[in-house]
Amino acid sequence: MNMSIELVNKNLRNWQGRKEWFFNREHTDTYEQWYEGRYKRAEVWQKKVIEQLVKKDERVKNLLEFGCGTTRFTRWWKNIGIEATGGDISPFMLSQAIHLFDGDLVMADSHAMPFKDHTFDAVAFITTFEYYKDPVKVIREAARVGKHGLVFGMMNRNSPKVVRRRVQQAFGKNPFYVTATFYTPQHLINVIREALDGREFTIEWTCTGLPEWFPLQQWSVPYGDFFGLYVKLLS
Ligand SMILES: C[S@@+](CC[C@H](N)C(=O)[O-])C[C@H]1O[C@@H](n2cnc3c(N)ncnc32)[C@H](O)[C@@H]1O
Repeated sequence: MNMSIELVNKNLRNWQGRKEWFFNREHTDTYEQWYEGRYKRAEVWQKKVIEQLVKKDERVKNLLEFGCGTTRFTRWWKNIGIEATGGDISPFMLSQAIHLFDGDLVMADSHAMPFKDHTFDAVAFITTFEYYKDPVKVIREAARVGKHGLVFGMMNRNSPKVVRRRVQQAFGKNPFYVTATFYTPQHLINVIREALDGREFTIEWTCTGLPEWFPLQQWSVPYGDFFGLYVKLLS
């Protein structure tokens, strides 16, 4: 770990006047702590669901994870035998990522990935797709840079937590979702179909993030706080 690397000056609080939370150090500096706390149990299930979906496609040995943030997921892929590279638009998130992850990282926008066609076996998006202004364009980019598959992990619109977040947000208590669009599995599938028109592919998804008292912790019914979705590219 090279602690001498600094991507942005420590005194810089905001990036280019942008309002999104990931361009404001006030929020990015506490991001890891936030996930270390009450989201720990949820994260275990999120990883389980993603692993089950991706490992079915044996062609995937490496991937590019865009919107990698501080690398909460990016540093985990190697545990399931996949070599990862991370990409993110936020210099504040990446300035933490370089100390937490030992693979390669790129600072770029998901709408224009600085890679040649078919550079990676797959392209993954974990709780980042909600922020994309032109989701069709991002999926086309991912299907250009990725060869075999596209991986999505995101908050589900069909969840009582979405209502709670919107209320918190209205009262200025939750900065994280102000610019976010929430998807259901079906809503995302519609966007994927539009983006990949003319390509051959299959789609599989699973929901998790069910209450602790619930007898199941993952299922293929579109309710739950989080869902994982895998697009297997066939042509
Ligand atoms: C909620 S965080 C998720 C980070 C990480 N994937 C995780 O699960 O902890 C969303 C991330 O998406 C990034 N992001 C938002 N818009 C982006 C874009 N257009 N291109 C690349 N990254 C973007 C943000 O900078 C932020 O790091």
